[in-house]
Amino acid sequence: MAAIRLRLLLAFLPLLFQTTATSSSDAEHLLAARSALFDPSDALAGWGSGRRSLCRWAHVSCAKNSTTAVTGLDLSRLFLSGGFPEALCSLRSLERLDLSANEFVGPLPACLAALPALTHLNLAGNNFSGEVPAEWGAGFRSLLVLNLVQNLLSGDFPAFLANITTLQEFSLAYNRFAPSPLPESLGDLADLRVLFVANCSLNGIIPSSIGKLKNLVNLDLSTNAIGGEIPPSIGNLSSLEQIELFANQLSGSIPVGFGGLKKLRSLDISMNQLTGEIPEDMFLAPRLSSVHMYQNNLSGRLPATLGTAPSLSDLRIFANQLSGPLPPEFGRNCPLQFLDTSDNRLSGPIPATLCASGNLTQLMLLDNEFEGAIPVELGQCWTLVRVRLSSNKLSGPVPSGFWGLPGVYLLELCGNALSGTINPAIAGAKNLSKLLLQDNRFTGALPAELGTLANLQELRAENNCFSGPLPPCLGNLPLLFNLDLSHNSFSGEIPRDFGKLKKLSQLYLSDNHLSGNVPPELGEIIEMNTLDLSNNELSGQLPAQLQNLRLTHFNISYNKLSGTLPVLFNGLQYKESFLGNPGLCHGFCQSYGKPDSKRHTIIKLVVPIFFAAAIILLIGLAWFTYKFRKYKMNAAELDDGKSNWVLTSYHRVDFSEKDIVNSLDENNVIGQGGAGKVYKVVVGPQDEAMAVKKLWPVEYAYSLRVTEKSDIYSFGVVMLELVTGMKPMALEIGEMDLVMWVSTNIEQSGLESVLDQTLAEQFKDEMCKVLKIALLCVSNLPTRRPPMRAVVKMLLDVKEENKPKLKVEPLAT
Ligand SMILES: *[C@@H]1O[C@H](CO)[C@@H](O)[C@H](O)[C@H]1NC(C)=O
Ligand SMILES: *[C@@H]1O[C@H](CO)[C@@H](O)[C@H](O)[C@H]1NC(C)=O
Ligand SMILES: *[C@@H]1O[C@H](CO)[C@@H](O)[C@H](O)[C@H]1NC(C)=O
Ligand SMILES: *[C@@H]1O[C@H](CO)[C@@H](O)[C@H](O)[C@H]1NC(C)=O
Ligand SMILES: *[C@@H]1O[C@H](CO)[C@@H](O)[C@H](O)[C@H]1NC(C)=O
Ligand SMILES: *[C@@H]1O[C@H](CO)[C@@H](O)[C@H](O)[C@H]1NC(C)=O
Ligand SMILES: *[C@@H]1O[C@H](CO)[C@@H](O)[C@H](O)[C@H]1NC(C)=O
Ligand SMILES: *[C@@H]1O[C@H](CO)[C@@H](O)[C@H](O)[C@H]1NC(C)=O
Ligand SMILES: *[C@@H]1O[C@H](CO)[C@@H](O)[C@H](O)[C@H]1NC(C)=O
Repeated sequence: MAAIRLRLLLAFLPLLFQTTATSSSDAEHLLAARSALFDPSDALAGWGSGRRSLCRWAHVSCAKNSTTAVTGLDLSRLFLSGGFPEALCSLRSLERLDLSANEFVGPLPACLAALPALTHLNLAGNNFSGEVPAEWGAGFRSLLVLNLVQNLLSGDFPAFLANITTLQEFSLAYNRFAPSPLPESLGDLADLRVLFVANCSLNGIIPSSIGKLKNLVNLDLSTNAIGGEIPPSIGNLSSLEQIELFANQLSGSIPVGFGGLKKLRSLDISMNQLTGEIPEDMFLAPRLSSVHMYQNNLSGRLPATLGTAPSLSDLRIFANQLSGPLPPEFGRNCPLQFLDTSDNRLSGPIPATLCASGNLTQLMLLDNEFEGAIPVELGQCWTLVRVRLSSNKLSGPVPSGFWGLPGVYLLELCGNALSGTINPAIAGAKNLSKLLLQDNRFTGALPAELGTLANLQELRAENNCFSGPLPPCLGNLPLLFNLDLSHNSFSGEIPRDFGKLKKLSQLYLSDNHLSGNVPPELGEIIEMNTLDLSNNELSGQLPAQLQNLRLTHFNISYNKLSGTLPVLFNGLQYKESFLGNPGLCHGFCQSYGKPDSKRHTIIKLVVPIFFAAAIILLIGLAWFTYKFRKYKMNAAELDDGKSNWVLTSYHRVDFSEKDIVNSLDENNVIGQGGAGKVYKVVVGPQDEAMAVKKLWPVEYAYSLRVTEKSDIYSFGVVMLELVTGMKPMALEIGEMDLVMWVSTNIEQSGLESVLDQTLAEQFKDEMCKVLKIALLCVSNLPTRRPPMRAVVKMLLDVKEENKPKLKVEPLAT
């Protein structure tokens, strides 16, 4: 008995020792690992507390026959951070280690490679950085899965990992390796099922050894810079289900053989430089469901196998040079859901069967040469949400059901030869947001049902043959922001209800036969920036309410308007807005319509500017005569012997330069010079000596539009130049423009700090007042700038007594 006991004890002793030793150390190693990392959500707080066995600690698992040896550690998605806890390398039984989706940083540990039992290593989605340790190429004797996806790993692509011949999954995608090629030795990974090396800065070519990976299921080399051709040997990898080669520099043609990949489900070779035809066997694979080949240079006709592919649901072949028709029964045999063939040269009819399976949601056939009618069958395709058939050669009427598809939010039919009317069935298109019908041959009146489409944001029907009155109920569309009905034959009045379109920013009704008054209600659409009513038969006075609008484009030319133009429309920017309205008056009732009147407008605008310039120079003269003494020496050089008192203000006129320059020449107050057009304010009694002040070109940072307000701005800049004695490009100003320099300095050091110090002593009060007026004129917001009349008045108030005699004079250049 004793002997038996002893033998038993001896037999169990090593086992006991071993297990106790392992258990205590694995627990210790885990606790050591925990103390080395940061665990903000206390996910590991329960470890080691109470008497719970190690194998019941959260995220820890042990082998079935053990209560002590840790074989699995899953710490994924626990917000852990810090460096890799090296204590984990002491878990000698560890088979699966998952630290994915945390915030670990620092280098990958070399020690992991020595773990004898490790089969699954997942460190994806962290911030591990640096090179993959070279030791990894010589260890990992049983590793099956290596996942380092989405870290910050650098250095050359770790080709030596191909030494781990046990690998079934090799995932290194989304790291920051230096440009390097895929190693030929990759072909040695005979068991490989997943090769995921997208976005790894790979260049070179796809190694032909890839044809040896007989077990490969998933091949993803996308978003690299891999060139060369697709190796035909890929067609031998009969286990492949997914091929992602998109966004590389692959060239040549698609190899024959993909059709032999019986298990293929999805193929993406988009965004390469592939040429030639799509091979005839391309669509043979019975489970092939998604094929993306867009943005290549593929040409020729589509293979007949496309028409018989049984599982195809997503086909995107846009932006190639494909020609010929779609297969006649396309869609009959497959659950087609997403079809985008845009931007090719496909022709023939749209197959009536596209939606035969009842799955079609997106139909994009734009920019091709499809012809014939839209098939009636598509009018029953209630799954559709996005329809783009523009820029083809489609003709005939649109099937009534097609107008009223309930889920469609984009119906784009523009640029065809479609005819007939908009069917009232459109009332069913409750989701419709954009209806684009322009450039077709549609006829008839717009149905009142359009006014019930509460989601409609854009309605474009220009360049058709629509007629009849504009339905007032269009005013009920709460989201409509673009309404373009121009170039049709609409008649009757513009409905007052349009004033209810609070979101409308663009209204084009030009080139119709609209008559009656312009409804004052249009002035209530404060969002409106474009209003084109030109070439109609509108009459009566232009409503003053339109002055409320901030229009960047306004055209009501060639109508029959009469009466006086509202005062705000007298500005230069509207000079082409009222052409061809012989009854319309401006100021002294000079008729619009005549080209001559342009000149009057300009003169009217320019004269006050120069008048005001003269006024400010009255004030400035005293300073300049003072300043003159200082400048005398320099002036003598510039003077060419003349003894005129002259102030020259160079001022760039970016806007409407032609008109202003012409007109000012005629009035002898403008010249040309420097870089770009400039005009010069020239002032002075001829017999006084000369002071020269050059004011350099001012950029117009704010105003894109030509308005009186931008002229005021320019005038404000001139005043600033005078008061500060500063050129707009002066060294002190540096990168800033004068306006910004002035406002910055005033903000920091007060008003007086910007005054021309040589004059400020004597004329401080006046200068401060002028400065304040100038600041008003250069306000960022055009609406805050005072009108010229007000500026002149303010300047006159500054100093009533005009001592020196001044006049506005030309300067010969
Ligand atoms: C646990 O079982 C596995 C096989 O299932 C065996 O290889 C291993 O030696 C066993 N471990 C112990 C401690 O008995
Ligand atoms: C991980 O790296 C990304 C990208 O460099 C960075 O935005 C992020 O803050 C980093 N996270 C940590 C925890 O370091
Ligand atoms: C990869 O294996 C080869 C041959 O087995 C060996 O010569 C080489 O040193 C290994 N590479 C690394 C980085 O361990
Ligand atoms: C590829 O990685 C770079 C940086 O590593 C990143 O800027 C780029 O957006 C990635 N490309 C894609 C398609 O994810
Ligand atoms: C495909 O495999 C067959 C048989 O193993 C071989 O004869 C053929 O050359 C391979 N094709 C390619 C393109 O590698
Ligand atoms: C694509 O083909 C067109 C005409 O065949 C050619 O002009 C163009 O250079 C090609 N583009 C590429 C990237 O090969
Ligand atoms: C196609 O539609 C049918 C019926 O609605 C549905 O059962 C099937 O799952 C859909 N197929 C696909 C690929 O979406
Ligand atoms: C309505 O349109 C939106 C897009 O604007 C789309 O996501 C949605 O699926 C459509 N609704 C229906 C019922 O089809
Ligand atoms: C307004 O339309 C007329 C005629 O179409 C055109 O001559 C004129 O330039 C347009 N005006 C503006 C401001 O676009």
